[in-house]
Amino acid sequence: MWQEKRYNSNNMIEKAIDKSRIPQHIAIIMDGNGRWASKRLLPRTMGHRAGMGALKTIVKACNELKVPYLTVFAFSTENWKRPVIEVDFLMRLLIEFLHKELTELHENNVRIHIFGDYGEIPMDCQIEIKEALHLTQNNSGLVFNIALNYGARQEIIEAVKQLSQRVTTQDIKPEDINEEVFSQLLYSGTMPDPDLLIRTAGEMRISNFMLWQIAYTEIVVCDTLWPDFTRADLIQAIKEYQSRDRRFGGLGQGSAD
Ligand code: FPP
Repeated sequence: MWQEKRYNSNNMIEKAIDKSRIPQHIAIIMDGNGRWASKRLLPRTMGHRAGMGALKTIVKACNELKVPYLTVFAFSTENWKRPVIEVDFLMRLLIEFLHKELTELHENNVRIHIFGDYGEIPMDCQIEIKEALHLTQNNSGLVFNIALNYGARQEIIEAVKQLSQRVTTQDIKPEDINEEVFSQLLYSGTMPDPDLLIRTAGEMRISNFMLWQIAYTEIVVCDTLWPDFTRADLIQAIKEYQSRDRRFGGLGQGSAD
């Protein structure tokens, strides 16, 4: 793979990025589990299992690189359309992930947070999630957001409903509604917007992920299928992000007078 060709030691990989300009929030669309499995003539579920391995690696790497926020798209509001066996497997995998990794995540000061309405997922999953949220609630390291039964349009509609309710009860005046007020009603609350969105497996789509929050996010799409995504791929994406001229609608540093 290209990353391994370019860097032949962890040390070289780490030196490739400017540690003082690490993205404050990285969001990831973990795509390609199914294709990874198909290439190996395995059932799709095996791709998801391998994807869980990649997720463990990337959470650890983000924590070590001192990325403050990581958000991963684990299950969308549209993913219910998949075969029951696959949906069930993904729910079991989440339970397994939290069960196996919770102690280590907690020891590493990671705070787990859920984006999405997890009240609709199986009860045993909800119990595991509540335990993870409770155990890690006071941790001050990486904030690890798992987007689960998440859809950005639904998130925006819920925020609009809450605002309408507040207007009705005269808790807020329509003229006082601004971007900050609106943002705080989203699952991301007061968290910074993602600086970097990584999508694996080559598709150039956003797939209803964090539509409000990614207004000025730098997007990196790589061909690597999610189960193959390594720490070196993450570093490469951060390097690409650091090479971008972020203008936020203004003029960049390199612009002529
Ligand atoms: C998209 O790949 C991936 C998903 C819908 C699920 C992501 C889940 C994991 C990475 C498993 C681990 C997660 C947790 C939270 C334990 P796809 O199936 O759409 O791949 P394809 O486009 O190649 O078919």
